[in-house]
Amino acid sequence: MLLREAGGPVADPVFGFGDPEAAIQNMTRMARRGGGLFSWDITTVAEIDGRVIGACSNLPGPEVRRRLRSTIWSVFRVYGIIGMFRLSHRLSALRRGSPEVPEGDYQVVNVAVMPGFRNQGIGRALLEQAHYAAAIHGAERCSLTVLIENTGAQRLYDSLGYRAVDECVDDGLRRLTGVSGLRLMTRDISPPVSCRTQEDSR
Ligand SMILES: CC(C)(COP(=O)(O)OP(=O)(O)OC[C@H]1O[C@@H](n2cnc3c(N)ncnc32)[C@H](O)[C@@H]1OP(=O)(O)O)[C@@H](O)C(=O)NCCC(=O)NCCS
Repeated sequence: MLLREAGGPVADPVFGFGDPEAAIQNMTRMARRGGGLFSWDITTVAEIDGRVIGACSNLPGPEVRRRLRSTIWSVFRVYGIIGMFRLSHRLSALRRGSPEVPEGDYQVVNVAVMPGFRNQGIGRALLEQAHYAAAIHGAERCSLTVLIENTGAQRLYDSLGYRAVDECVDDGLRRLTGVSGLRLMTRDISPPVSCRTQEDSR
């Protein structure tokens, strides 16, 4: 459910072939499989009374490449061989509308908070946790991509120090989803206080 929220208007046409229920089911099944780019094992969740109401996946850039093979395997298990062909055509449109993320950057890949719990600081807290994880990994920069039309999320990213550095648009993506493309936003990461040298603190 949260993955579908994170995907916004892209989720149903791409991952559910136009069917919202199928999008939720397919994305949930991919999230349950470990090792991929949609997986529970790179996801931090926010809970209230045991109910998950927010999530943010984040990982070091080089890990993205390592996880590609198991992501493809998960897609195959969830969609089957025919579904994979249908999906690959849709994913190509998404890829054409996505700016390239520098490989060394720490990446935030999915952020979402359930509708009834938004604007209470949960999204901000999840992102701050991701920045802390990035700092622990020694990353110097954190990147994310966001739909160009998603101005609400971009306001949050702006206030957290992200700046737009690139964007791509694609007509095929616009026809499929109504979204013109994605924007790449990056933010510098400072080392955690305990790792700073005396020189840094001066
Ligand atoms: C983007 C999202 C994760 C933010 O989570 P959140 O818990 O509402 O965020 P916070 O409460 O921490 O911060 C909200 C801040 O961002 C801004 N903001 C975030 N989403 C907004 C929206 N849809 N409309 C207007 N402002 C929004 C607010 O101005 C607010 O600023 P403030 O901290 O100065 O008050 C949440 O709106 C969401 O799940 N949206 C749908 C999925 C999505 O778009 N994910 C992003 C994919 S890149």
